[in-house]
Amino acid sequence: MCGIVGAVAKNDIVTTLLNCLQCLEYRGYDSSGIAVLEAPQVLRRLRAVGKIDNLRTALQDFPLAGKVGIVHTRWATHGAPTEANAHPHFSQNEIAVVHNGIIENYYELREELQGAGYEFHSETDSEVIAHLIHKYYQKTHNLLQAVHLARQCLSGMYAIAVIHASEPNRLIGVRQGSSLVVGFGENGHFIASDCVALTSVAEEFIYLQEGDLVDIYDTQVVIYDNECQLVEREQQILHFSSEAIERGVYKHYMQKEIFEQPYAVANTFAECLHSNLISDGTFSVAAKELFPKVKRIQIVACGSSYYAGLVARYWFEAIANLPCRVDIASELRYQKTVIEPGTLLVAISQSGETADTLAVVRQAREVGYLAWVAISNVAASALMREADLAFLTHAGIEIGVASTKTFTTQLVVLFLLSITLGEYNGLDEQRALQLTQALRNLPAQLEQTLVLDAVLQKLAKKFITKQHALYLGRNICYPIALEGALKMKEISYIHAEAYPAGELKHGPLALVDENMPVVVLLPKDELVAKMESNIKEVQARRGEVIVFADSSLDCSELGDVMVIKMPEVIKEVAPIVYTLPLQLLAYHTAVQKGADVDQPRNLAKSVTVE
Ligand code: G6P
Repeated sequence: MCGIVGAVAKNDIVTTLLNCLQCLEYRGYDSSGIAVLEAPQVLRRLRAVGKIDNLRTALQDFPLAGKVGIVHTRWATHGAPTEANAHPHFSQNEIAVVHNGIIENYYELREELQGAGYEFHSETDSEVIAHLIHKYYQKTHNLLQAVHLARQCLSGMYAIAVIHASEPNRLIGVRQGSSLVVGFGENGHFIASDCVALTSVAEEFIYLQEGDLVDIYDTQVVIYDNECQLVEREQQILHFSSEAIERGVYKHYMQKEIFEQPYAVANTFAECLHSNLISDGTFSVAAKELFPKVKRIQIVACGSSYYAGLVARYWFEAIANLPCRVDIASELRYQKTVIEPGTLLVAISQSGETADTLAVVRQAREVGYLAWVAISNVAASALMREADLAFLTHAGIEIGVASTKTFTTQLVVLFLLSITLGEYNGLDEQRALQLTQALRNLPAQLEQTLVLDAVLQKLAKKFITKQHALYLGRNICYPIALEGALKMKEISYIHAEAYPAGELKHGPLALVDENMPVVVLLPKDELVAKMESNIKEVQARRGEVIVFADSSLDCSELGDVMVIKMPEVIKEVAPIVYTLPLQLLAYHTAVQKGADVDQPRNLAKSVTVE
């Protein structure tokens, strides 16, 4: 969480830094701050609680100017979102630091530094970094050496950017567990948590590796590894279309991203399917050797990615005939599990940065997995770069904090992976063709679900006055009920819970009355009759039922329920299709409640801390 940007530029950089920072607001938005070197020995800062716009407003009253600066947008971990806890943190008005991550030994360091006479002005773990660097600067009078010495005392995960009042043309960044990129621009050189922040100022980038320290001095950029040895890192040219990061005609990024799904899904399978056959290169050449050895699957993920994993379990078992287990990363990392020979670990993460997911995969070899596959939307993320096999979802940049198109494109990749593994495991050729054809049909079917927008906008009116909502699904659509409820919770703050419909009478039925809207997913499968009974059980308790039903089903017997007709699809791809109306329902509910759809309270898109 938290976003950082820093620059050493030829001209005043304040406005540019804020514009860049705004692109990182998805990482946290409870406070922000800036520090600039206005002149040698003149280090000034401004901080504001709330979103970056508040900092912009504050800057109108207290303008800053300078060519070297650092900025930060915060998602609070240690200490409330107050101005004192906002970054940059200073030491003796000489050093300014911004930090993304967590310093695990901050308490000991704080005591030690207090003992040495340093005064602390915040409750954060981050402030120790500034004082520690200051302590070493007193000995070395060299910022590069001071940062190098200080980092050796820090444990935890962090990306930092540091400037010093006596070294006016220098910016130092360190990547240790949290992402950091270097951008080379016309007006100077930059560092940032994500290259998305630098699209307007740079086209050439270096993705720093774990342990790298970058020293930007005037126009020079020098990189050192963990041992302080000079290293060369590959410079990449990246072009971002401005469309990808603009809202266009949409009111919110989330709305734009929901509507982009037919295209995002098509884009994700486009390169893999040739005449309905999955092309050989899809999962890389190494996959050819690896996949025949796979005997079982272990999926690991968090949030919506975990729900994508739950859907995939059904596919791996039913299509690929492979036993599959799915775990939440924050649980799995501290659990003793029995890993059977031939287990392939599949890590799913839209950001590719989630701390818990990374922790699990980094132990993968040691604990005995056959290999591990990464599925992410960020090609340069740590997850993708460290994986044995990496598969990119081509969703395009997703800015809304709640996952939408990254979720459905993850499902597409997992579906393809299950067919590919199935082909090594006795999946009938005709069946494989039927499944890939179903995938090809998806973009058009997703378009059909988007036509429901107006109906769902109207339906949302029913939800805005409710405190709770229940979502029911069975089998492969149960995880979609979970995802639909999660979307509702995240952005509209209505308590929404999902249950496998068969569990209804084991508890949640006690909550059902005329105030409880119950959303039911009714794809065409062998469980329709069971679901109809569950609907009757809810109706008998005066619960208000909204059914998303396959259009080929006759729902007349259901009586007084609202039926929303869904495209006719085979049950295997129903999870992808049924996700969209639930996203739209949550979206419209949140909009009508006046909630901040793209930046829901207390959340962030990239969860880089435990
Ligand atoms: C955050 C995001 C969710 C996401 C989850 C897992 O909570 O807001 O949308 O599902 O993190 O993130 P990952 O990047 O690992 O998929």
